Amino acid sequence: MRANLGVPRPDQADYMLKAAASAAGRHYKRELLDLLEVEPGQVALDVGCGPGADLPLLAERVGEGGTVIGVDRDPAMLAEARRRTSGLPAVEVREGDVHALPLEPGTVDRAKIDRVLMHVTDPDAVLAGLHLVTRPGGRIALAEPDWDTLIVDAEDLDASRAFTRYTTSEAVRNATIGRTLARRAERAGFTVDAVTASTPVFLDLAEADRTLGLGRNTQLAIEDGHMDADRARRWFASLAEGPFYASFTLITVACSR
Ligand SMILES: C[S@@+](CC[C@H](N)C(=O)[O-])C[C@H]1O[C@@H](n2cnc3c(N)ncnc32)[C@H](O)[C@@H]1O
Repeated sequence: MRANLGVPRPDQADYMLKAAASAAGRHYKRELLDLLEVEPGQVALDVGCGPGADLPLLAERVGEGGTVIGVDRDPAMLAEARRRTSGLPAVEVREGDVHALPLEPGTVDRAKIDRVLMHVTDPDAVLAGLHLVTRPGGRIALAEPDWDTLIVDAEDLDASRAFTRYTTSEAVRNATIGRTLARRAERAGFTVDAVTASTPVFLDLAEADRTLGLGRNTQLAIEDGHMDADRARRWFASLAEGPFYASFTLITVACSR
């Protein structure tokens, strides 16, 4: 039996914190928070807060008189988010499903959703729920990738395309959510104020393998019959010959209620 391709699936909380701390992660996360225009004393919500990478900065922006609420359903994420914010009295981490936000209607001034809608079963229901809990005059900011834009350089261009097709059709639930954000937000009742796109670039194969799951998803594509095994293995091995290039587009939308 042949070995699996690429690095094993990393610890998710650790992986998300590392992704947030990378140059590309810091850049778009800062932009997302700036779009929110958080003011001192406000109630700010992080929908699907993960290990709490953004909670400290939100706490800094709402100040002593404000409140930051992080919601997630994953026990490991909740534990890490609570650990990271234990010294920040403004922060409260709540267990819950983002389809049924554990908040009263009209109580939130600012809310962000960062790479969560691509995973949920019903993104429109999540946005409708967010509209309900946001105060009139409140603001939200959304950031999601569009995996159709994933490009990986290799001499076997068709294999690269097959990998992207597998990612969008099988590996990620709502893989093309990025391009739909403004339309979905308007449908949920928000007014779209700004739409931007950025392109995280990966020049290091090991980092791309960890973040984009290159090896893991190639292995799954083979097992699911989406890529020919020998060709997929040759394609993956060729990525190490370098220089390596991969990128995708991340779309950010800011809205008011
Ligand atoms: C890619 S991580 C992003 C975490 C965080 N927003 C960040 O930027 O670091 C996605 C998070 O969404 C959470 N999530 C996915 N579906 C969820 C749901 N239905 N209810 C609550 N949390 C959910 C996962 O547990 C995970 O922590």
